[in-house]
Amino acid sequence: MFIGIDLGTSSVKMILVDQNQNILATSDSPVTVQNPKDGYSEQNPEEWISATLECLESLKSKKPKEFIETISIGISGHMHGATLIDSSGNVIRPCILWNDTRSHKECEEFENQGFDVRSISGNITMPGFTAPKINWLKNNEIESFKKISKVLLPKDYLRFYLTGEYYSEMSDASGTLWLDVKERKWSEKLLSCSELDIKNMPTLVEGNQETGNLKNSIKDKFNFKNDVIVVGGAGDNAAAAAGMGIINQKQSFISLGTSGVFFTPTQNFLSNTGDAVHSFCHCLPNKWHLMSVMLSASNCLDWICSITNTSITETLKNVEKYFNDPNLVSNSSFFLPYLSGERTPHNDPHIRGSFHAMKTTTDATNLQYAVIEGVSFGILDGVNSILKVNDNFDKIFMVGGGSRSSFWIELIASLLQRNLSVCNQSEYGAALGVARLAMYVDNNIKDQNDIIKEIKISKEYQPKIDSIDLLKKRYTIWKDLYTSNKNIAPTLLT
Ligand code: XUL
Repeated sequence: MFIGIDLGTSSVKMILVDQNQNILATSDSPVTVQNPKDGYSEQNPEEWISATLECLESLKSKKPKEFIETISIGISGHMHGATLIDSSGNVIRPCILWNDTRSHKECEEFENQGFDVRSISGNITMPGFTAPKINWLKNNEIESFKKISKVLLPKDYLRFYLTGEYYSEMSDASGTLWLDVKERKWSEKLLSCSELDIKNMPTLVEGNQETGNLKNSIKDKFNFKNDVIVVGGAGDNAAAAAGMGIINQKQSFISLGTSGVFFTPTQNFLSNTGDAVHSFCHCLPNKWHLMSVMLSASNCLDWICSITNTSITETLKNVEKYFNDPNLVSNSSFFLPYLSGERTPHNDPHIRGSFHAMKTTTDATNLQYAVIEGVSFGILDGVNSILKVNDNFDKIFMVGGGSRSSFWIELIASLLQRNLSVCNQSEYGAALGVARLAMYVDNNIKDQNDIIKEIKISKEYQPKIDSIDLLKKRYTIWKDLYTSNKNIAPTLLT
């Protein structure tokens, strides 16, 4: 038996799987996010622990006999969060999360060195990443900064709670900006940009390697029979990819969740910092991946549905009808989907969402169409940014809440001019990915190459040829809208 734990931004999700990867039980427990100021996003690590213990209890109550036979555990988590630990192992302050943008000034400070920071980290410095958050603390909360003994990513703090060991793994560590992503090791030079050094970092392993055993107190609390091994695990996107079997080049996925992600594995280290492409290690040795991240994707749809007081289902139905009339589409208003700033391709924490070319005839359905189209254009921007350095992918899976709409998938297929596949996805995909990584340490598994299987396609969508030209024309105009708005954006924020 194997357990996969996924520490998500809104809940902890957990699964128990057997050696044939049958899912025996699932559980989840919510966690909250605090926004003490505009642009601030924090979590109390205590909540991760209580939600994790609750999920373990729930798995145990559902499958008691199987649960206690657990051999190993994998952990996935939301990336980039800065969890600060003092010399006694206590948490110093709430964790600053991936979607916190307070450190935009410190990004400049981090990169302002006598050497090329980007060429080592493989990434541009963005406020979402871990390093500038520490520079912010240095400039704004010096007392907290001085107490730092270790900086841990969220799932690595959970690991510390479960095992008492300080470890991280390559995929999540890539999002700190302190990793030499090509060499897969901490970089003293990059750490010095935040006035930290190697002793402040956990030990690094690959996602499928051991990081210690569950502490006796936890083993006894849940009556586990074995000395349960905890493996490295993965950042949530790499974990979701492992859950879908996306570990080799030519494979990829687009996720239309709160954020919008295009993810594709690569056989070597590649990067495109100019377009704010994320260049990270994958969760297995000698594999990397490229990723574009837009900060607001399907939450733009939630937002417009809530302010136009229409359900998502009704909105998608109305918008589909609207899209079938090229005359309406060519006269439609435009939407920039940057409700909380943007990472790929702009790296712009100041830009915000906006409608353009609104007319006396603009109605709610038009605004809803413009939102879906604007998010889709953002996804195309991400794919194009990756295409500049890697065109080695032919299969694209659509996942996340937004991918439940056939209309939306077809619109994106037309924009990308590529076929898109959907699979029978589950919200436990990242948990399955790390449960699979946990299987690597089980000596009873004969062929490790069989562990990560590719998920089956349940349906394939093709581009709608007759809408391609119109969408292309609108995309060109939409791109100009960002260019003409970006200079004024910082002055619009108070
Ligand atoms: C990736 C990113 C998010 C978080 C939260 O760079 O910031 O996907 O991992 O899910």
